[in-house]
Amino acid sequence: MERRTLITAALPYSNDRLHLGHLRSTYIPADIYYRYLRKRGEDAVFICATDEHGTPIAVRAEREGVTPKEIADRYHVLIKDDLEGVGCAFSIFSRTTHPIHYETTRAFFLKLYEKGFIYEKEVEQLKCPRCDRFLPDRYVEGTCPYCGYEGARGDSCDYCGRYLRPTELRNPRCIVCGEKPVVAKSKHWFFKLSAFQEELLKWLSGNEKLPVNVKNYALKWASEGLKDWDITRDMEWGVPIPVEGGEGKVIYVWFDAPIGYISATKVWAEQIGDKERWRKYWGKEGGARIVHFIGKDIIYHHAIFWPAMLMAEGSFGLPYTIIAGEYLTLEGRKMSKSRGWVISVADYLKLLEPDPLRYYLVMAAPLDRDADFSWEEFVRRYNDELVDILSNFIHRTLTLLTRYFNGKVPKPPHLTEKDLEVLSSIKAAVDKVAENLENFKFRDGLLEVMKLAHLGNKYLNDTAPWSAIKSSPERAAASLYVAVQIVRALADLICPFMPFSAKRLYKMLKLKGEPENTPWEAAKEKLPPEHELGEVKPLFKKLKSEEGEKIRRSLLPREEKQMAQVSLEEFYKAELRVGRIVKVKELGREHLYLVIKLGEVERSCVARIGGKYTREQLLGRQVVVVANIKPATIRGVRSEVMLLAAVHDGEVVLIVPEREVPEGSLVR
Ligand code: 2FM
Ligand code: ZN
Repeated sequence: MERRTLITAALPYSNDRLHLGHLRSTYIPADIYYRYLRKRGEDAVFICATDEHGTPIAVRAEREGVTPKEIADRYHVLIKDDLEGVGCAFSIFSRTTHPIHYETTRAFFLKLYEKGFIYEKEVEQLKCPRCDRFLPDRYVEGTCPYCGYEGARGDSCDYCGRYLRPTELRNPRCIVCGEKPVVAKSKHWFFKLSAFQEELLKWLSGNEKLPVNVKNYALKWASEGLKDWDITRDMEWGVPIPVEGGEGKVIYVWFDAPIGYISATKVWAEQIGDKERWRKYWGKEGGARIVHFIGKDIIYHHAIFWPAMLMAEGSFGLPYTIIAGEYLTLEGRKMSKSRGWVISVADYLKLLEPDPLRYYLVMAAPLDRDADFSWEEFVRRYNDELVDILSNFIHRTLTLLTRYFNGKVPKPPHLTEKDLEVLSSIKAAVDKVAENLENFKFRDGLLEVMKLAHLGNKYLNDTAPWSAIKSSPERAAASLYVAVQIVRALADLICPFMPFSAKRLYKMLKLKGEPENTPWEAAKEKLPPEHELGEVKPLFKKLKSEEGEKIRRSLLPREEKQMAQVSLEEFYKAELRVGRIVKVKELGREHLYLVIKLGEVERSCVARIGGKYTREQLLGRQVVVVANIKPATIRGVRSEVMLLAAVHDGEVVLIVPEREVPEGSLVR
């Protein structure tokens, strides 16, 4: 049976424009893969949409005094512009506010509910007494319990990147009125994720197509035990809960968003006038290979939640694979919207063409490794690779043909062994690029393309048709005949990676049709003698240093916004002291109760290091504490001092003096 593929790219939240990191991890790789399959003539559909529910959009709307739908409308258009601007050729770019999405989500929820995989439970939530409403996710802000960042939100901390629950925040406040929330009970619906642990483990470990970065991450979570998942929220904006008692609450955005992949396929089917066609892709039997492209921060949602939801529902196919792109740093530093250290797609497109960016983002590193966007490196790759290797080879070949052969492909009377060898390398290159793309090795695929251009340059230098034309015009004809065949192959090979340039090259070569619709194997075909060429222009022009500097200045953010600064005087208000742990008791799964001796006195401390350190590792150890922190009650126990530790990616490492000092010593 013919291979059928449904490609999805993570649905961006409709409350902000996209930046280069999004393109690198998700949209460019997905687009390359889709364009490649399309050139192969395969049955492939490329799905995306804006993710329009959830507190990110609701909060933004509240801040601007407009409705969430207005925010979603505005950003749907802008995000679509960003993605189309860099060439993403979606079959559909839908929305999760589409009526078909509501209906699909509703049916999905009900099926799970009827099968007993969704149940109700009362849970504790934060509630604002002044606004008289619950505060889900981003409706509450406070201090991150892990890193102390004061602007942490109810679902995550922007600073240290940890996922949070609103009830975990220290000093929480309602983002609408600033009031301190109280804890109140609310009825929620839970998905029995725990029931799918075994099936997920089996699926994850048995799926050979899952890349290692995805598989290992998901297996780690799944084997540590999965808890049932709260899939509803106390708010108005979202898909209504389709069962009794759900009034005033909605389905959690992370439950409805991936269903958006299915609903967007339905919208696409309707648009092409073949309403039932979506079933051909999503059917459990005989459906398509479902290939999800995502960023690494949402592996959990796609490799755990989503497959479990699909298993529970039962009538759709499971993902064939999940390709997760790692992060893109900017000039070596983590990109951060809140700190202003980011380049938006829109800003890039105001200054430069999309193809060099697509090229750079693929070349910068393999997808399963972090990559960096550095201006210097961008210019280097642009000038040394796109201009010197690719563009110059093409330009030299085509201008020589114009000059010596009236812009026509010559007829070579005789081809040497070397010529034939180069011609056969074209075929080999076409297959190697394909093999890499089949295996989602986008960088390796592009490297093969560039190797072919490099070979073309070398061949041209070795055969030097510009001097042969005088001594042996037949040799010059053979040389340019071979070289132009490489150019012809490149026109098709660069198409998935740099679609705009492929189009231009097609024109220069006067090739029929459009590169995106021309079969992949056409790259192996030869331009016949007498084939007439079009007008020759350089594919890329050097970025001169003056011009580059001008672009750099407008493109790169000035400086990272500064963190709040603390004066020496303020800093000294905190009394940091060395103490010795003299008692350790467990307090639930995550906390430990410690008694810390500071000279003559002993102080209690509730620290969130349960599971990180054992009693034996702690007893008798010297540590550093904030001795004059305002006492607080944590887990029902009074905590008088705060223990200092380094936190990184879920690791907690105690700060200890380099050698023993008298207990109670000040830390300065
Ligand atoms: O992280 C995000 O930006 C989410 N909006 C991605 C959703 S992907 C899918 F599940 F819809
Ligand atoms: Zn409030």
